[in-house]
Amino acid sequence: MTYFLGLDISTTASKALLMDETGSVVSVAAQPHSLQTPHPLWSEQDPAEWWDAVAASIRAALAQAAIRGEEIAAVGLTGQMHGLVLLDEAGQVLRPAILWNDGRSQSQCDEIHRRLGREAFIQISGNVALTGFTAPKILWVAQNEPEIYARARHILLPKDTIRYRLTGDFAMDKADGSGTALFDLKTRAWSEKILAALEIPRAWMPPTFEGTTFTGTISAEAAKITGLKAGTPVAAGGGDQAAGAVGMGVVEPGIIGLTVGTSGVVFATTPSALIEPQGRLHAFCHAAPGLWHLMGVMLSAAGSLQWYRDTLAPGIGFDDLLKEAESVPAGSEGLQFLPYLSGERTPHPDPLARGAFIGLTLRHGRGHLTRAVLEGVAFGLKDSFGLMEQAGLGEIRQVRASGGGTKSALWRQILASVLGAELATVNTAEAGAYGAALLAAVGAGAWPNVVSACQATVKTSAATRPDLAQVAAYRSAYAVYRELYPALKPFFGALAGA
Ligand code: XUL
Repeated sequence: MTYFLGLDISTTASKALLMDETGSVVSVAAQPHSLQTPHPLWSEQDPAEWWDAVAASIRAALAQAAIRGEEIAAVGLTGQMHGLVLLDEAGQVLRPAILWNDGRSQSQCDEIHRRLGREAFIQISGNVALTGFTAPKILWVAQNEPEIYARARHILLPKDTIRYRLTGDFAMDKADGSGTALFDLKTRAWSEKILAALEIPRAWMPPTFEGTTFTGTISAEAAKITGLKAGTPVAAGGGDQAAGAVGMGVVEPGIIGLTVGTSGVVFATTPSALIEPQGRLHAFCHAAPGLWHLMGVMLSAAGSLQWYRDTLAPGIGFDDLLKEAESVPAGSEGLQFLPYLSGERTPHPDPLARGAFIGLTLRHGRGHLTRAVLEGVAFGLKDSFGLMEQAGLGEIRQVRASGGGTKSALWRQILASVLGAELATVNTAEAGAYGAALLAAVGAGAWPNVVSACQATVKTSAATRPDLAQVAAYRSAYAVYRELYPALKPFFGALAGA
């Protein structure tokens, strides 16, 4: 038996997942990270913590499965996307990493649009500049910490910082490269035009590779620290969303990934670089070679239900709370919920957007409120499907659901009826790390390509079908939902004191 190792440098923890050559997971180990918010809107981490956590999880995963480093044929990497790590000439980290959920760089986003022209920027990168992405963070450091910027020689993302520690190579995969907002989406390469306009030296950017390509091998020093064998190849991998899609088998056009975790993600593979003309969807390279994807991100999906339960029904179990919502008719008798509890990305890239219950009457009880939350989140996710259709996405053959929210049969039913699509669930735990292991396995020749690797390993369970009576009720409720954000938007700024 040979084994493959997937490493996920996520925001909350570093994880190591060992998979055997049939695709069965033999062990998973994780070690948490701390997160610093030294100022409002800031979100930072110390890359040294990632390295300690990765090394400890690799050793723990090997020990749990009683596997020696020699038995591992290849390693794949994934992790939180978009985070900026600046290194000096000697490869030393210059400042804490600025993460994907850091919001300090809005004025740099505006400047990027000014320098390149908003439309032109969307056409090259596939996206609008958002504070989450890497490019505005680089400008922020240049403008606010010029002494650090002057010493910078290399730009990496979180997981590629770990790659550098593992192999000594500066390298990045194309999926994550496209998440920096410095990439030419169509040519799958750094955009000379964007780099020049932002005065970022081309030499600072690492070479980029397709997800299954090996970028280097485990160094003797890293081998000593991790228990891996020196010389073990390391595949490019992909950012957490793209690698997670591989882990869920969302690698073929027509199969949509729907993740209902704290945030909600709609992920669609595309055979060419489709772009939503106003940049309301993300458009990135896929970790599966030669493919692209569209992605809608809702910031508070199951996070909305969590907030609602903790705030309005503390101490009540989710099962009991959801039970009360089962007997409430579809549409919650005219009660609606807007899920913008932490602002929104898709379809309204608006940090000031706010949540709301609208349409309360004396008749509404807690079951109605609960159901309205489930329905509001489903409507928000439907918005991403609509934008994808407008961007030219073809037929949807299957929606593959994962994440804590989809464990509820009621929420799955609501989602299927709101989306008007069959929902299959995928039971891949740790989809990102599993996808990274699959990418490494394909690189090592265990399967001929990513699609066949996914077909051989990823299993879906029985589908939830739309309920026709609900479909009609949701069609009219969604029409109202669509009108609520534009109607309320003028007040959100005032409420935020902006
Ligand atoms: C995707 C995104 C998050 C991060 C954190 O655009 O920002 O998925 O990668 O996990």
